[in-house]
Amino acid sequence: MVVSDSFSNCLKLSGAEQRRFHRQAEEARNERFGNRVFVRGVVEISNFCRENCGYCAMRRDHTGLNRYRLSVDEILNEVVPNLPDFVTDLNLQAGEDPVAVREIAIPLLKILKRETRLGLSVCLGTFRESDYAALREAGADYYVMKVETGNAEHYKSVQAPGSLDERVAAIRQLSAAGWMVSSGFVLGLPGQTDAILTETVELLKALPLAGCSVSPFIPGENTRFSDHPAAGLDEVLNMVAGLRLLMPGRIIPAVSAMSLAGEGGYAGALRAGANLATINLTPERARGDYQIYRRERAIMTSELVLREIESAGCVPSEVGIRDWLAA
Ligand code: 5AD
Repeated sequence: MVVSDSFSNCLKLSGAEQRRFHRQAEEARNERFGNRVFVRGVVEISNFCRENCGYCAMRRDHTGLNRYRLSVDEILNEVVPNLPDFVTDLNLQAGEDPVAVREIAIPLLKILKRETRLGLSVCLGTFRESDYAALREAGADYYVMKVETGNAEHYKSVQAPGSLDERVAAIRQLSAAGWMVSSGFVLGLPGQTDAILTETVELLKALPLAGCSVSPFIPGENTRFSDHPAAGLDEVLNMVAGLRLLMPGRIIPAVSAMSLAGEGGYAGALRAGANLATINLTPERARGDYQIYRRERAIMTSELVLREIESAGCVPSEVGIRDWLAA
């Protein structure tokens, strides 16, 4: 399948045609990965953020939020010992917070690298090359860096971090330095047109990525887009299927916001070719404050994730992402 303007037609599929499209994507996934789904635990280590993205409720100017940082000890004592055994990978995520990189992520990664077999990924934002190197040295090898949108003007208009050029340069730099990189975009972001969507998917296809994601836009409370409609579930799932067919060998996640986008969204994504599920491991006390959209979140617990994986006819992968991609 080539990315072209007809791509946006795929997004509108429904009924029997839609099921056929998803089945095709599921088969493409199965050909490369089987029905295995990687399960990654996510710890939201800090919600401090120096960026000010127009669509995100965690942005710097949102003063109504309690800001927190977890401690390394808290994560080691309360999170790591309770990891279900089907979790092969751990992702440390935060607002763009240099303090969290220095004081939490780097020391924690060093310990996890030494004492566990977990694959270690990070989603922390844009920093200097020496910071990426320190994270990699500490043991992480998978960097999540979203482009949000593939059009430079649109990128600027939603106040995404820095410029699209800088973001793309960071992705290339990380990949050249040996990281597995995952990127992605927000479907239904205000101002997005079919042409912008096509441009975005083309950009993602061309970038040196191990993973690629689509997140449904959810209007964030206290953002200037709070009255803008959320992305529709069918479009999101059709996009998952489209990504799988265009990029059959990449890691494509089912994101928890898909269950916010509609009933059955999570398993639906796995049935449309996604092959990564995430479990939220952030301690209870902090979860409500990690507010990308609003306080109510779709928290994926391990029971819930296992049930969704099973209902999609899949099984948790026994092998982590790094070992799979290296094999
Ligand atoms: N809707 C959907 N996704 C969002 N993100 C931030 N705000 C929203 C929103 N309102 C996603 C972006 C960002 C990640 C942290 O969360 O992709 O990079």
